[in-house]
Amino acid sequence: VSLESNQSQWQLAKNKGEWQKFREQLPASTPVALVPTMGNLHAGHLSLLDRALSEHSVVVLTIFVNQLQFGPHEDFANYPRTLELDCQKLTHLLETRYPQDKRLFIFAPTSPHEVFPEGHSSSISVGPLTQILCGIKRPIHFDGVTTVVYALFALFKPAKAYFGLKDFQQFFIIKKMVRDLSLPIELEGGEIVRDHDGLALSSRNAYLSSEDRLEALTLMKTLRQLAAIPCADESDAKNLQWQMQEIVKSNDKWEYLEVVDAQTLLAPNSSFQELVLLGAYRLGKTRLIDNITIKRSKAC
Ligand code: PAF
Repeated sequence: VSLESNQSQWQLAKNKGEWQKFREQLPASTPVALVPTMGNLHAGHLSLLDRALSEHSVVVLTIFVNQLQFGPHEDFANYPRTLELDCQKLTHLLETRYPQDKRLFIFAPTSPHEVFPEGHSSSISVGPLTQILCGIKRPIHFDGVTTVVYALFALFKPAKAYFGLKDFQQFFIIKKMVRDLSLPIELEGGEIVRDHDGLALSSRNAYLSSEDRLEALTLMKTLRQLAAIPCADESDAKNLQWQMQEIVKSNDKWEYLEVVDAQTLLAPNSSFQELVLLGAYRLGKTRLIDNITIKRSKAC
């Protein structure tokens, strides 16, 4: 795939002027779907794109490593940037699954100023939910995410946007932003896509040595074991949370393990219907996250 070539079905654009031209050629009423990514695409991203293409004739997929969501000592500089390979994967999916009638616009800006104008200082924050779970160790992360997602929504005006549920807290926060600001955008969360052994796919898995890759399974296996414990009421949920804290205390690679109400992201009270078990596990410089949602068990 030549990055310079514009096929009739897909287009790679590096600046927002190209989007404006592309948009002008479409009937004004054409709904656009948006799949925001930071690139280094894996099967999880491709399943979101597949879903978006199955539902829309025009899909925008963005590849933008957004510095605002990285803390000062995080991996912004080293984050894997694999544009050529990403474009091959995208166009392969488009051409094999949707050979006709679909248009894919890949937006991979070369400069952050294509997303945020020079001197920009505005930020979007949904508040306290950004400071719990992952936000404890990454206090500026979610404000960076909502700021870029809002900017992408403003640029592409999608009817629907797709995000992966591996980042459960991120999806929850984006949903809250959309509701709080009355944005006319439908959101869909795509199920977590896992490797053959159950490890949730993540661009950051590429950082793992083969030894760490094996140990990374601790995260998913622990969540699965905990998810098998029936939770029928608030006291079961409290007991589960206690067990999670004991696990975290036993190994300092755990950043957190928590159970929250899937509807509120807060500690479950008596009315919970669905719980989500979330964890973050650190292997050297690599931080992995995963989660499992479980229904309230029937009381015995
Ligand atoms: O989930 C991601 O890849 C990023 O946080 C997102 C939503 C593309 C914003 O940069």
